[in-house]
Amino acid sequence: MNRFTLLKQQAYINGLFIDALNNKTFSVTNPATREEICQVSDLGEKETEQAILAAEVAQKAWAKVLPKERANILRCWFELVMQNQEELAQILSLEQGKPIAESRGEIAYGASFIEWFAEEAKRIYGDILPSDKTNHRLMVIKQPIGVVAAITPWNFPNAMITRKAAPALAAGCAVVVKPAAETPLSALALAELAHQAGLPKGLLNIVTSTDAVAVGKVLTESPIVRKVTFTGSTRVGKILMEQSACTVKKLALELGGNAPSIVFDDADLDNAVEGVFASKFRNSGQTCVCTNRIYVQEGIYEQFLAKFKQKMAQIKLGSANELGVTMGPLITQSAVEKVQRHIEDAVQKGATVMMGGKPSALGGTFFEPTLLRDATQSMLIAHEETFAPLAPIIRFEAEEEAIQMANDTEFGLASYLFTQDMSRIWRVSEALEYGIVGINEGLISNEIAPFGGVKESGLGREGSKYGLEEFLEMKYLCLKI
Ligand code: SIN
Repeated sequence: MNRFTLLKQQAYINGLFIDALNNKTFSVTNPATREEICQVSDLGEKETEQAILAAEVAQKAWAKVLPKERANILRCWFELVMQNQEELAQILSLEQGKPIAESRGEIAYGASFIEWFAEEAKRIYGDILPSDKTNHRLMVIKQPIGVVAAITPWNFPNAMITRKAAPALAAGCAVVVKPAAETPLSALALAELAHQAGLPKGLLNIVTSTDAVAVGKVLTESPIVRKVTFTGSTRVGKILMEQSACTVKKLALELGGNAPSIVFDDADLDNAVEGVFASKFRNSGQTCVCTNRIYVQEGIYEQFLAKFKQKMAQIKLGSANELGVTMGPLITQSAVEKVQRHIEDAVQKGATVMMGGKPSALGGTFFEPTLLRDATQSMLIAHEETFAPLAPIIRFEAEEEAIQMANDTEFGLASYLFTQDMSRIWRVSEALEYGIVGINEGLISNEIAPFGGVKESGLGREGSKYGLEEFLEMKYLCLKI
């Protein structure tokens, strides 16, 4: 590990890399080899409280720093991240397992949020309102919300932190990050670079811990923390929401998805195959905007299936740095068990495995890319997020039927449709009960557009001009003259 200058093993609180008070550590492993990478400080409630207090002090001073100065520091952080893209990508692949090309992509994606919000920091405008009385002047100013807790997932160990921390810092907030225990190293490397960029101490704290329940409880119940932003499962999101109720915190929740891709008879077939493939297999199928169920219209079903199978045959499973590898392992054994359960259920209910269907001969948590034909709405795959490289193809006849099946879920994050009919594009896009609609496109994430869902997929939006508003409070001033 000596080849990495950014590989830190201690948590980062108040500008210092620190051990746990009881010196506890936990093991971080490479999911591709199951080998230990290193030990990392395992913090608990007390250190979380320290991080919150440090953030409180730092935030008060940061709120008074001119937006342009905040922007300069963020810009510097962005530049350092991009200068260190290769090392950050290697660390990310090591702890998360994704192919190195995908990790490089994630570092650039993550950095784009820092760059974007460095620019947006200078554009936090208030408002002057028409007066209700001749001697009144009515105004709105925007102020930072305060201390923010960010609880982030293992599937994007870099980008899900920058997508939360960059707007928070741009707005004048301080952040306490609890990264996933599977992937704390990317978070710590980001903190080191923020430190080098001159971010004042206490503004970004990284609480590494295996005790997500205890840390989450301290973060949600603290009256100092004014906002919780979380990416993860709907189940945990609901718990955080409940725990945040006692202090009436603001919440941003990026929760589960169950993305439908609908391919109509009139789609450009090659483009539809490309788009569905890109959305299905990104990060081994482990993103909340990954296509979970593929609805293909009757007239194009067999052709789509044949071409999709051909495309899937090109996937090369393996370790991140192996030549030509395009897909990594799943994160844990329980992820393998879940996809197996979904396949078994589908086969029992009449689906046929066209490709894959079992753990890979590579061993560990590698799973074969799997294609199912004759999947139906009655199967688990239509209702639960698989989060794995499983592509179930469901047949439909009419547009209405596809919309009804696509909306038949408690989730509402991303959806995709493939058609060349302009009226249908509008009709279906408007009918889909989702926060995001990809139209003839399977890759929809970027820093410019609002990312977020409806229904049980969560609250709030990340990225974009709307993402900054999430970290600002509106204050109305009524001036009598
Ligand atoms: C996620 O899976 O949580 C985020 C995916 C993305 O940013 O595209």
